[in-house]
Amino acid sequence: MHIRSAEPLQDRNTLALPATAEALAVVHREEDLREAFAWAAAGQLPVLPLGSGSNVVLSGRLNALVVCLATTGREIIRQGDESIVLGVAAGEEWHPLVEWCLDHGYFGLENLALIPGTVGAAPIQNIGAYGVELHSFVERVHALRIDTGEPLVLSAQECEFAYRDSVFKHRLRDTLVITRVELRLSRRPDVRADYPALARSLDHSGITAPTPRDVFDAVVGIRVKRLPDPASEPNAGSFFKNPRLPMAAVRELALRFPGLPVYPHGSDEAKLPAAWMIEHCGWKGYREGAVGIHPQHALVIVNYGGGDGNAVLALADKIAHSVFGRFGVALEIEPRIYGQ
Ligand code: FAD
Ligand code: EPU
Repeated sequence: MHIRSAEPLQDRNTLALPATAEALAVVHREEDLREAFAWAAAGQLPVLPLGSGSNVVLSGRLNALVVCLATTGREIIRQGDESIVLGVAAGEEWHPLVEWCLDHGYFGLENLALIPGTVGAAPIQNIGAYGVELHSFVERVHALRIDTGEPLVLSAQECEFAYRDSVFKHRLRDTLVITRVELRLSRRPDVRADYPALARSLDHSGITAPTPRDVFDAVVGIRVKRLPDPASEPNAGSFFKNPRLPMAAVRELALRFPGLPVYPHGSDEAKLPAAWMIEHCGWKGYREGAVGIHPQHALVIVNYGGGDGNAVLALADKIAHSVFGRFGVALEIEPRIYGQ
């Protein structure tokens, strides 16, 4: 394993923000992680795991050993007539895994097609899209503790998954590197197509009894149309989470703002689309120097070239203030912020 100093990170985050890692290691074998941890401990540097950099805001110098996981491997752990449990290495890319599962008749992940990033990062925020969240498929998560190098195995329940949330953002934050994720998938088609945009798309195509392949194709079609490709318009997907509020507060807001879409979440809460509120504050398509809000999606901040982390965060701050001023709703940033 080769550890490099003062390594640029602009090509390693999808917002293409300039930043430098104090040190960087690309890890191809799980066993090299312990060596990386020891190296970092000797230099009193924290370890910062980085996947595809699609959910981070980086600025300046990151005083850390950045560990880029490049481990690969998909194995069948067990299977029956109804389900199959796969073990997938953390460095595998998410979307090719979704395609591979569909091709092999392992169903469930279709709604999560085209989400950028690695398998190891997927449990961190419990990735979700089009009515499905990762947590429904997680059997166990394997990790190594950064301080001792010891292995740790967490059941799905122990991961404390919630909307864009898990134990890895709280009690276990910055303490471990996820090395492998076990997923339980269905051997029989298991279609979930009631998310409004997905149901509309299938309806428009005249599909009344969608197959998993239909769902996959529809999700890919919607995403390609609605979300900018980071390769040409650098971004980190949704910049804010959709806020969850008690139902009573949501009813009051819906009366004040006719047309506000409301997504019930459990029995006494609802999620409000941050995009709708941002758009209704007039931000969609707004541009301030190198950074701006995408003209097709109000939740996506784009670095049009030459922007840095401070510019992105300054714009995000203005947006959050204006949404709070108009709707009284606090927005929370989704990507993790690193550096100064
Ligand atoms: P990174 O950005 O590299 O890391 C994110 C966080 O996870 C960091 O804190 C990092 O330290 C930590 N981390 C990464 N790997 C590990 C590991 N092995 N062990 C421990 N910690 C680790 N998200 C959704 O949920 N739904 C969507 O529909 C969606 N759409 C998106 C669309 C676009 C265009 C983009 C750019 C992003 C989108 N995202 C979406 C966000 C992003 O794709 C996910 O959060 C993804 O899981 C991040 O993976 P990554 O490998 O890029 O993680
Ligand atoms: N909307 C607007 N203006 C816009 C965009 C959307 O008013 O510019 C409205 C839509 O009309 C709709 C509502 O907002 O009524 C929701 O829109 P959409 O279905 O596009 O979903 P979203 O809330 O913007 C969330 C996730 C996405 C995920 C999609 C699909 C969060 C923070 N974002 O977006 O995840 O792909 O649903 O399930 O939950 C990500 O996390 O990076 C991400 C892209």
